[in-house]
Amino acid sequence: MEERSVHEGWPGVAAVVGAGTMGLGVAECFAAAGMRVRLVDATPELTRRAKERVVERARGHADAGLISREALERVEGIETADGPAEASAGAEFVFEAAPEDLGLKEEVLGACSAAADRETVIVSNTSSLPINTLATFVERRERFLGMHWFNPPEWTPGVEVIPAEGTDTEVVERVVGFLRGIGKRPAVVGDGPGFVANRIQNALFLEALRCVEDGLASPQEVDEVVRSCFGFRLPFFGPFQIADMAGLDVYQSVFETLEEGLGERFSPPDAVRERVEEGRTGTKSGAGFLTYSDEERDRLLIERDRRYAALNELLESLPPVDVGEDT
Ligand SMILES: NC(=O)c1ccc[n+]([C@@H]2O[C@H](COP(=O)([O-])OP(=O)(O)OC[C@H]3O[C@@H](n4cnc5c(N)ncnc54)[C@H](O)[C@@H]3O)[C@@H](O)[C@H]2O)c1
Repeated sequence: MEERSVHEGWPGVAAVVGAGTMGLGVAECFAAAGMRVRLVDATPELTRRAKERVVERARGHADAGLISREALERVEGIETADGPAEASAGAEFVFEAAPEDLGLKEEVLGACSAAADRETVIVSNTSSLPINTLATFVERRERFLGMHWFNPPEWTPGVEVIPAEGTDTEVVERVVGFLRGIGKRPAVVGDGPGFVANRIQNALFLEALRCVEDGLASPQEVDEVVRSCFGFRLPFFGPFQIADMAGLDVYQSVFETLEEGLGERFSPPDAVRERVEEGRTGTKSGAGFLTYSDEERDRLLIERDRRYAALNELLESLPPVDVGEDT
């Protein structure tokens, strides 16, 4: 089997601190890519069990043909440590994935930072705690930042990279290069509540819930609409390019109808109104949120269609995941 990605260079040794849902997946991903990994959980017994679980998980992936036998062997070679400090000593990179509790993060990040070398890069996988607050728990905060992965980490390509106020730009660049090197798609984002992904994802979830509460559709029907209508586009395009391709004038009319029915939170945003007033209605006028030459627009649209056709073919080739019923 062909390797998905092979890690080279920095970091030589990575400590993964907290071996639950995320830490285990990230440890598998790092080890499968060829990194030397040290895994640690809250106690030596939990660490021992975590090592067993990560190997079982990788074996399942190898049996399903998702990773190679060589990658499985590398996961079997994951080392363990007695505690966060022991795992961090001599590691070039520390990935903290302890539970989402500020006091616990303070304890764990403090222990890692005190034991690690001065140059060791330390990151937290927090989903929502302010990176600038977490940075205060680390000595030499210029080597600290947020690195927010998504579940399941082995397969989800996107990773939010969140520098703190004092993070060294060279550290940010190194971390971004490393993530790209192991096949991930990092985006550097600011330290706002929920960063970017969870803020958007939770806004979507709130509105999905309101559709159910308003009696428009059942949870199953909402899921079908989201994944098969606009969600179908999301592996390829984000909201700005999708809006440009739909036409910002169209978006403005839709916002006006939504505002009438659902109130001010759906008022057409100034960023849309102003562009429509200036005639910048999206791909059809050559500019919207992005600009497009005629040639670029034609290429974008045919590439869009090529990708949608390929995705349709892939979806049709897979058995449906029919699990769960509306409650
Ligand atoms: N679950 C997700 O989908 C998801 C996605 C992105 C980010 N995150 C974030 O990743 C972090 C971990 O989340 P999770 O879902 O993997 O949690 P989890 O509860 O599954 O795993 C946390 C692990 O940390 C261990 N732990 C507790 N105290 C420890 C200590 N002192 N030292 C070392 N390990 C210790 C626990 O025993 C547990 O195995 C959180 O900050 C969370 O917000 C979670």
